[in-house]
Parts: sequence; structure tokens; C-alpha cells
Amino acid sequence: MSGEPIRIDPISQPQAEAEDAALEVTEAQQRQGEQMSAATIPTHGVMEGGGSYNLHARIPAGGGNLALPYLEDAARSLAVRPGTDPLVLADYGSSQGKNSMAPMRAAIRCLRSRVGNERAVMVVHVDQHANDFNTLFDVLHNDAERYSVDDPNVFPFAIGRSFYENVFPREQVDLGWCSYAAVWLRHIPALIPGHFASVACTGEVRAAFDLQAADDWRLFLSLRARELRVGGRLVVVFPGLSDEGATGFEPLFNSANEILGEMVDERVVGADERKRMVLGAYPRRRAQLLEPFGREDQFQSLSVEHCALFDLPDGAWTDYQLDGNVESLGSRHAAFFRAIFVPSLASAISDAGRRLAFADLLEQKLKRRLCERPAPFHSFVQTMVLAKQAPAVTPSARSSP
Ligand SMILES: C[S@@+](CC[C@H](N)C(=O)[O-])C[C@H]1O[C@@H](n2cnc3c(N)ncnc32)[C@H](O)[C@@H]1O
Repeated sequence: MSGEPIRIDPISQPQAEAEDAALEVTEAQQRQGEQMSAATIPTHGVMEGGGSYNLHARIPAGGGNLALPYLEDAARSLAVRPGTDPLVLADYGSSQGKNSMAPMRAAIRCLRSRVGNERAVMVVHVDQHANDFNTLFDVLHNDAERYSVDDPNVFPFAIGRSFYENVFPREQVDLGWCSYAAVWLRHIPALIPGHFASVACTGEVRAAFDLQAADDWRLFLSLRARELRVGGRLVVVFPGLSDEGATGFEPLFNSANEILGEMVDERVVGADERKRMVLGAYPRRRAQLLEPFGREDQFQSLSVEHCALFDLPDGAWTDYQLDGNVESLGSRHAAFFRAIFVPSLASAISDAGRRLAFADLLEQKLKRRLCERPAPFHSFVQTMVLAKQAPAVTPSARSSP
């Protein structure tokens, strides 16, 4: 981000009216209880391209690091099939890949200690079709930390498909990893009056998000249960929500929300565009994650081996306490917000040029605001390990010839 002021052309009145008229239809549909389809906000949940996510996603990297011991345990305890078939690691929601290198490397190291160096290992990175796969392939080819650098029997693949669909044929995956990705819903169920974040909504809107999140989690689990081999493991990492309902990002999100209001007042964003700016990210409480599993800790063929919430240190704040560089703190926090959330907000703006100017201006204003009110993120990481069980043998099946 340069220090130059960013100019963004005010939207014209006819354009604003047309967009307001379009919005009336959306609101009317919403009143009728219809879901706002993914087609309304086409690119929700995709990270900022051009490698931006890899540069600025240190918070998810920190969360993933905290979960590494559980991934390693999972790799040590999963049922390895005898024979020579490749082992399959799935990385659901890989984004641009930088944050996948350490977990995939750790998992492969544990598997190698069990199967030796000759067994082929396939690592399949899954993300939405609009993901920046060019950067992912660049990381897989060039990154010094890439997991294949010293292992000729590791084979990377990538799939551009939603993890709310079948991504693999039945029973192909030995070990799944999904970090900071299943927090993104399949659809955005409602507009959020006065805010853009699901944690800030109440009443009917909250109920719509709660329902969507519950449905999506069950769908995600059902699909993964189908794809995992018996004895396989799935490790899921989420930005956590405390039992009190806090994410730790409230000061950041509230600052961004105030700035969006100012941008509407300055007429650089239309009121209708602002209303359509909604994040499809929904952090779940521990109880919501465990809800499908019931008292038996079992959902379909999946059982819960581990589920815990941890505090996540804010590295930018730690550095600020050492060096007192508030500019650097503000830049890092604002760039984090931009790389992860701004593409989803900007998708409410139809013109590509205005989307870019919007992202630049929002980041610039946010950085200024965060420098005025320096504060750490007191965020959390939620980790979960699931194991796929063999189907129960019923007495009739046991006695049949
Ligand atoms: C915050 S990034 C996490 C990237 C990486 N796993 C990490 O830990 O840093 C979330 C990723 O999930 C992806 N994602 C969101 N919804 C998805 C879906 N339905 N199917 C596949 N990927 C999805 C996004 O495109 C994005 O790349």
C-alpha cells in the first residue's frame, strides 16, 4: 500500500438508483424467506489473488501451527493399508498454498516413519475454482519449504471444486486437513443490516446464519465421511469462537464497518452496494461443532477424537511491543483484513476497476484507524480430529453366508 491518497470516483446518481432498485428485489426476495443465492455474491470466500493471501495470512498460519501436533498424531494413528497403493492427503481449502507447506510436510514425515521412503504419497490441494491457483503452483514448484523438495515420491495435485461437493471418489482419502476454510459457508443466507459480519447479527438474520452453518457443517462432514478410507483421519482447524461468542477480531471488524459507513457518506460506495457487503464466514462454538455427533460422539461413520479451543497469539502485536512501530502494526492488521475479507466485500461492486480502488481505499483508511487505536487480536483457534470407523456389523449381516 503506498502512502499516496487514493482517488475513487463517486458513483453516479443513475447508477446508484439502478443498484438501489436491484436491491429492492433482493430485499423483497429476502422478506419472502428465499435464500440469497451464491449467484448474488459470486466470489465469496476467495482470498485476494496475486499471492496476497500468502503474504498476509500469518494469523491462519499461526492457527495451523498450533494444530500440527494433532495432525502428526493423526498421521501416526491412521490405518495404513498394506500394499503399494499411494497414500492420499487432502488439503481442503488450500488457498495459495504457503500455509499448507508446514502441515503437509509434518504429515508426510510421520507417514514416512511408518511406510518408508518408497511408498508414493499424493497431496491434493482443493479450493474454489476462482482461487489463485497460479500462486499455489508457484509455491509447489519454487518454495524453499515445499514438501516435495527432498522427497521424490510425493506427488502434488490440485482441484478447483467446492468442498461442499464430492471432491474425491468414495474412500480415497487417508488423511484430510482443512484449516481456516470450513468457516466459509456454502451460501450467504441473508443480508446483515448495519454490519457485514455474521457475529454481529441478531434476530431472524442470526437464525438464518445459524441454520445455514448447521446445514453446511453436516454437509461438509457427510462428504468427508464418504471420501475418507476406513481408519482415515480428518483434522479441521477453525478460527475459534469463545463460549461467550467472541472471535477476538471485533475491534478490527467494527473499525472496518465504521469505515464502510464513511465510504457510503463520501459516496464512493453506494448504499445498495454496502448493504450487499456480507461475509460468508461463520465461526462456530465448540458446542455447534459437536452438535451433529450427539452423545455417542459419532456422526455417520465419523467419531470425534479431539476437540479443543486455544488462545492464538498475535505476532504483529508481539513485534509492536518490542519495536513500538505502530505503522507496521497497522499495516499488518489492515493487510490481513484486505487479503482475507475484502475480496468478499468487494464482490458487491460490479465494476472491476472500482473494486480495486475500493480495496485500496478501505485498506488505507483501516490502517490509519488501527494506528490511532492500536490493539491486539485476542483470537482463538479451534482444532478437531475425526476418525472414520468401519461400518458396524449387524447381527443379521454377521450370520448371513
Ligand atoms: C482463509 S483461507 C485458508 C487457507 C489455508 N488453508 C490456511 O490455513 O491458511 C480459506 C480458503 O478456503 C477456501 N474456501 C472457502 N470456501 C470453500 C469451498 N466451499 N470449497 C473449497 N474451498 C473453499 C477459500 O477459497 C480460501 O482459499
